[in-house]
Amino acid sequence: MKHLLVAMILLTSAAFAQSGAALYQQCQGCHQPNGAGIRGVFPPLAGHVPEILAARGGRVWIIQMMLYGLSGEITVGGVRYMGVMPGYRHLSDADLAALLNHISTQWGNRFPTGQRPFTAAEVQAQRAKTMTAAQVNAARRALGLR
Ligand code: HEC
Repeated sequence: MKHLLVAMILLTSAAFAQSGAALYQQCQGCHQPNGAGIRGVFPPLAGHVPEILAARGGRVWIIQMMLYGLSGEITVGGVRYMGVMPGYRHLSDADLAALLNHISTQWGNRFPTGQRPFTAAEVQAQRAKTMTAAQVNAARRALGLR
């Protein structure tokens, strides 16, 4: 009986593995439900995530950003931001992949030609780095985003 109960709980939690849309509820207070952000305060994800993905090294960088956060000055579309983005390394590899796939395909965003959806293994590969949010910002400079 006890085993049956445990099996049922395991099955239920697998069936309700979080979707990217559900996970994005944790982001929308800042980046907004429509991904537009708030000019000068929270950068937009709509129209911007594909730019990050298309930059050389951008795909690995955005995984690191999700894990370790980002702080200090950045520029998006010529607008300056100087905030703090919390890291989400408490989320599972599968959840982070789902979240990245969500923001890469919402609001008219699309993966650049030739790029496939994020996988949990791809996220897992960046876990050993343990960067600070400031180091993530320094790494962002190499992407050449404006
Ligand atoms: C508390 C507010 C807040 C929350 C919650 C938040 N972000 Fe952010 N996010 C920011 C800020 C502020 C920045 C820019 C940081 C800076 O200025 O250095 C940012 C940056 C980003 C960037 C990088 C943009 C770039 O060009 O470098 C992405 C991608 C992103 N956030 C996605 C997300 C996702 C996905 C979530 C939910 C899991 C999320 N954010 C949750 C505030 C937030």
